[in-house]
Amino acid sequence: TDPVSGCPVSVGAAAFDPFGDAYQADPPEAVRWSRDEEPVFYSPSLGYWVVTRYDDVKAVFRDNITFSPSIALEKITPVSDEAIATLERYDYAMNRTLVNEDEPEHMPRRRVLMDPFTPDRLSHHEPMVRRLTREYVDRFVDAGKADLVDEMLWEVPLTVALHFLGVPEEDMATLRKYSIAHTVNTWGRPSPEEQLTVAENVGKFWQYAGTVLDKLRRDPSGDGWMPYSIRKQREFPDVITDSYLHSMMMAGIVAAHETTANAAANALKLLLENRTVWEELCADPGLIPNAVEECLRHSGSVAAWRRLVTSDTTVGGVPIPAGAKLLIVNSSANRDERHFEDPDSVDIRRDNATEHLTFGYGSHQCMGKNLARMELQVFLEELTRRLPHLDLVPGQRFTYVPNTSFRGPEHLWVQWDPAANPERTDP
Ligand code: HEM
Repeated sequence: TDPVSGCPVSVGAAAFDPFGDAYQADPPEAVRWSRDEEPVFYSPSLGYWVVTRYDDVKAVFRDNITFSPSIALEKITPVSDEAIATLERYDYAMNRTLVNEDEPEHMPRRRVLMDPFTPDRLSHHEPMVRRLTREYVDRFVDAGKADLVDEMLWEVPLTVALHFLGVPEEDMATLRKYSIAHTVNTWGRPSPEEQLTVAENVGKFWQYAGTVLDKLRRDPSGDGWMPYSIRKQREFPDVITDSYLHSMMMAGIVAAHETTANAAANALKLLLENRTVWEELCADPGLIPNAVEECLRHSGSVAAWRRLVTSDTTVGGVPIPAGAKLLIVNSSANRDERHFEDPDSVDIRRDNATEHLTFGYGSHQCMGKNLARMELQVFLEELTRRLPHLDLVPGQRFTYVPNTSFRGPEHLWVQWDPAANPERTDP
């Protein structure tokens, strides 16, 4: 029985630990018991209700009134007083930014800011993504061995994000320095020392974001989502507020960076572990777009997301009271056999792969999904073409930052024989 609510708790629910080894190693596998036996359960150690089946997770995403996204970025581990004091010294005032905003504020803002994310507008960024990807591959293509995360997959999505947002070139290096890992701070169990280090960096990041924003305000004629947002503020000053702009200048980088870097590392790892699939992609790059969806489904980079229950309701038939917090495990939904046939296998021709919930669903669904997809496609196109003989370094142990939500290997060592590079044998 749970000591707080007095509710009976099953063995599986009592043992559920999203910071433990099993969940870190494989979130959907760690909650397989739940999908089978108890698809909606209360976790006493986390203080959240956990939802693991496809239909239930989708139903929660679909109703953003009963299930408010307001807690999506709340620190899952309470912040220390010292960390709060540090942030105050930097006048840190991060406000809500689309992803954790309730109606009626959210939708008008989303509508006004959507245009730069349309496929047509995004296609203008493709040459930049390809140029960056090629530059990074050039650096290691003759080395025979690389950590794809450290040498490519971490930095390219960060730089793409800075370009997409319209950050001036001369400010990119500074913002890159401050854009440290937010994963552990938001969804993990940071130690008090870690909290302080992160607070220092977040404070500096916040201030510098303000400086860059001021510069863009002086001349907002350029390309990019932030100059666009500044121009829209003139038309819709009540919708696009100053506080929103400063917050998004920082949050936009985080939203676009770690999610995409992790997704890319997960995809490469999954494909190289399934060698025949990798070889099929090398032989027929036309398969890459659907393979990207299948990778996002099978091994997505957002393992779970959060919602706050605003009125008494039911999820999957289980009564849940107003005020309850939900951990909706979208990575588990993506492996639900009730929706995906043979869900644990990697099938790059799967006809419903795009129905995965890695980008969420409904009115808050990821605005950057097509930018992320384009990046992942370009990475796979370039790597399958230039390094088809790539292999995982055998025997490596993959490590993950312990947290509920952002998931990708910290390192991904690969090796190949540079003498067999296609560009050398077939110049
Ligand atoms: C929202 C995942 C890349 C911008 C979200 C949400 C998820 C997500 C789960 C919340 C959805 C919901 O509540 O229904 C991902 C993944 C990515 C990725 C897995 C990479 C593979 C990006 C990129 C950008 C971006 C590249 C570009 C700026 C946003 C924005 C929202 C959002 C602005 C808030 C939308 C709203 O609430 O209306 N993303 N994201 N994301 N994402 Fe992404």
